Formats: sequence, C-alpha cells, structure tokens
Amino acid sequence: MSSPTPDRYAVIGFPIRHSWSPFIHGLFAKQTNQSLTYSRLEVAPENLERDVNEFFESGGKGLNVTVPHKQAVALLARFRTPRAEIAGAVNTLAMQEEGLLGDNTDGAGLLTDLTHNLSLNVENARILLLGAGGAARGVLGPLLGAAPEYIEIANRNGDRATQLAHEFRLLGEVKGCGFDAISTTGTFDLILNATSASLQDTIPPIPPAVIGPTTLCYDMAYGKGDTAFTRWAKNAGAGRAETGWGMLVEQAAESFYLWRGVKPETKPVLEAVKSQK
Ligand code: ATR
Repeated sequence: MSSPTPDRYAVIGFPIRHSWSPFIHGLFAKQTNQSLTYSRLEVAPENLERDVNEFFESGGKGLNVTVPHKQAVALLARFRTPRAEIAGAVNTLAMQEEGLLGDNTDGAGLLTDLTHNLSLNVENARILLLGAGGAARGVLGPLLGAAPEYIEIANRNGDRATQLAHEFRLLGEVKGCGFDAISTTGTFDLILNATSASLQDTIPPIPPAVIGPTTLCYDMAYGKGDTAFTRWAKNAGAGRAETGWGMLVEQAAESFYLWRGVKPETKPVLEAVKSQK
C-alpha cells in the first residue's frame, strides 16, 4: 500500500528566495514526525488573490505570508482570529472545515521570545516601540496584553505614532510621538525596533539616554550577525541587544501549532538557524 500524499504548505512573499521558513518548518516536521512539504512561492502583489486561491483549490493546507502581503491577504480569509483582527494583518492562513482562516502569530512569537527565551519580565516593563508601520501594529496588541507599565511609540512621522497609540488606547497605557519627543527622564526596560531602518543599514535617531545597563534592545529585523540597530545599542551601553531570529522561529512554531495541533520544541531549531546563518 502506498503512503498518503504529504500535506502541502508554503510561504508566500515578494521577494521570497531568502526565506528561512522552509528550513524551520522542515525541522519542526522532522522533530514531530509530521508528514508534510513546505515550499517557497514568489507571488507578485497583482497575482495574490489568484495564487492564494489556486494553492488552496489544489489541496494546499496552509500558507505563511510575508512582506508585502500581510495586510492584503487578510481580506482573502473567510474568518480571522481576534489577534489578526487587532493586528490588521495576517501571517498565517489555514484551510479549515468552515473555510479559510487568517491568523497572526507575529506578536505571540515576539512575546514568547522575549519572555521565554530572553527571560524578560514584560509585566510592568517600560517599553519604547520604534516605528508605526505594519510591523509595529502587528505586535502592539500582544505586548499590551502582557500588561507593561506603558508603551511609548516613536516614529519618524510622529503623527502616525500618535494615531497608532490612539487606536490601541483601550488595551493599555500607550502614547505616540516623533523621535525628537521621546521621553528621556529614565531608561527603558525594552526598546523594540519595528522600523525598516535596519534594512537600509541605518538606525532611528534615538537619544542614548534612554538606554541603560538593564535595557534589552531588540531588533525585529534579522540578518547575518548584528543589525545596524543592535550594533548601535551595544555601543550605547545596552545590557543586551538581540536580533529577531527568535521571533522568527517562535512565530513559525505558533503557525505550525495552528496547522498540525502539535507544538514543536523551538530551542534546537533556533540553534540550528543560528549555526547556519
Ligand atoms: P513594516 O510593515 O515593515 O512596518 P511600513 O508599514 O512601510 O513597513 O513601515 C515602515 C516603518 O519604518 C515606519 O514606521 C517608517 O517610518 P515612517 O512612518 O515615518 O515612514 C519606518 N522607517 C523606514 N525607514 C526609516 C528610517 N530610515 N529611519 C527611521 N524610520 C524608518
């Protein structure tokens, strides 16, 4: 008797060739003995709806979604989880009996990395969130849900930060401002870089006074070694500076759990990713 065809998954983005998701999900599948395939699909924005429909109509079970499709793809899902609704973006699609479900595991992935892998106590923490685009919006709900003392959102365009803070005001203590108005009365426990400045190898202009020896500086971007932001943070005296590899692996584990109902061990996978990069 031949074995059943493995379930089919993929990550979609534009470009997509550098995605680590196939490597990560391949290790998860091996570790949990799940029979599945996971590939990369390059999907141009104008083909998004067609390609997503084709994937699921041909029997695909789930997709991860990355730049630039996270917002547009949310509209293709029949249902969305509350955390995807709050984020206004979807990074995981799962075909379920009732139809296509859109979820967002980015915020939960970040929170697991911060609290579990990096032992940060987010409850009562003073948090500076840099950026007010899709990446910042995606993590604000779960961060506020962890009951920090407050979150200050700072952005190049200060009005965008104020607007974002206003949208999330019912979930906790949050305010927005431009980089020039960041409060310098004390240091922050956590400074999160959710701008795309690292991709251009630049850093947001933030005053060094907000960084102290107990500050964790975290760049949601990742690359080979330090990013411009983590390099700068170490020089400015941050207690710790981390790139977003842990968030990447943890959000993948959340997606895997949604699809397969099994939670993989992330520690060995994060180690494998770090040793490969
Ligand atoms: P993403 O989905 O990655 O968040 P986005 O929605 O385009 O992408 O948002 C990019 C974010 O990075 C914004 O907060 C942007 O600031 P503006 O709103 O002022 O444009 C920020 N950003 C991009 N390049 C930057 C730079 N060189 N310095 C500081 N902030 C930058």
